[in-house]
Amino acid sequence: MRIGVLVSRVRVEEKYLVQALEARNVDFELIDVRQVVFDLQAADEWQQYDVILDRCVSHSQAVSVLQVLGSWGIPCVNTADVVQVCGDKVSTSLALVASGVPTPQTRVAFTPEAALEAIEEMGYPVVLKPAVGSWGRLLAKINDRDAAEAIIEHKSTLGSYQHSIFYIQQYIDKPGQDIRTFVVGDETICGITRTSAHWITNTARGGQSGVCPITPEIDRLSRAAAQAVGGGVVAVDLMETRDGQMLVNEVNHTMEFRNSIEPTGVDIPGKIIDYVFQVGEGVPVGGNGRARAEVTTVAGGQA
Ligand SMILES: Nc1ncnc2c1ncn2[C@@H]1O[C@H](COP(=O)(O)OP(=O)(O)O)[C@@H](O)[C@H]1O
Ligand SMILES: [Mg+2]
Repeated sequence: MRIGVLVSRVRVEEKYLVQALEARNVDFELIDVRQVVFDLQAADEWQQYDVILDRCVSHSQAVSVLQVLGSWGIPCVNTADVVQVCGDKVSTSLALVASGVPTPQTRVAFTPEAALEAIEEMGYPVVLKPAVGSWGRLLAKINDRDAAEAIIEHKSTLGSYQHSIFYIQQYIDKPGQDIRTFVVGDETICGITRTSAHWITNTARGGQSGVCPITPEIDRLSRAAAQAVGGGVVAVDLMETRDGQMLVNEVNHTMEFRNSIEPTGVDIPGKIIDYVFQVGEGVPVGGNGRARAEVTTVAGGQA
């Protein structure tokens, strides 16, 4: 068994994964995506790998690399399709809705005028997000029309082309925290709460992590969300409304987990490597993204 680990910037997470590989005495290689050149007519040199674990930071590069390797029949964790869906919030929301996973009301618009109209119709507050992005960056909570006009004008004038897609979401009044679960294959392996005085609770933005007990509902929604995007190794963001409804906010591929090992006591990198190993051995694993999962209907509609 030979595992290829695709990396760009090596973060704490990749170091933990390398430790887990070493502890298992597995033959592996770190492949720096910045040095990779694919000869699209020469798949052979890549057949030495039984499985690829993608840990690239760049979403667009990861999708492209995984498309190439996947097309050559090399199993990838995660697959190009899963990375594409998770890396784009419009695609993620579509997948969640299609699978009947409860998620906040979301609209997508393409001009400043249409965006303002959608926001006014939804009612304040709303959240505007870049379709591609993470770590809570460039999220805007818009409380009134003045703010909506200002943010939309700033985006149209100063934003890159990605900001010409207006992803608008109902603001969920969650009680000071959200939930992040980790799904590996068919299993919700653990979860954390992310508590913050700020409405953006990402740990990268100062949210404090604590252990979140995996209730049957959290387990069911987490696995349904993972299946909705094609499965594999993902992290699911959930928010609970004041009246107790649990909604899936987004699904992340190539997630960070440095702040989640200690509070949960779960060996997240070890679980990931064990799963990668299974995929490499051709063991049937739940939702490896090889086929889009069957529609999983879960209780509770749109919020
Ligand atoms: N619709 C929303 N209502 C309330 N809080 C939200 C909403 N969307 C995002 N947040 C907060 O912002 C954080 C980051 O949003 P998210 O959509 O997960 O983007 P990112 O990809 O940057 O993590 C979430 O973890 C949550 O705390
Ligand atoms: Mg998030």
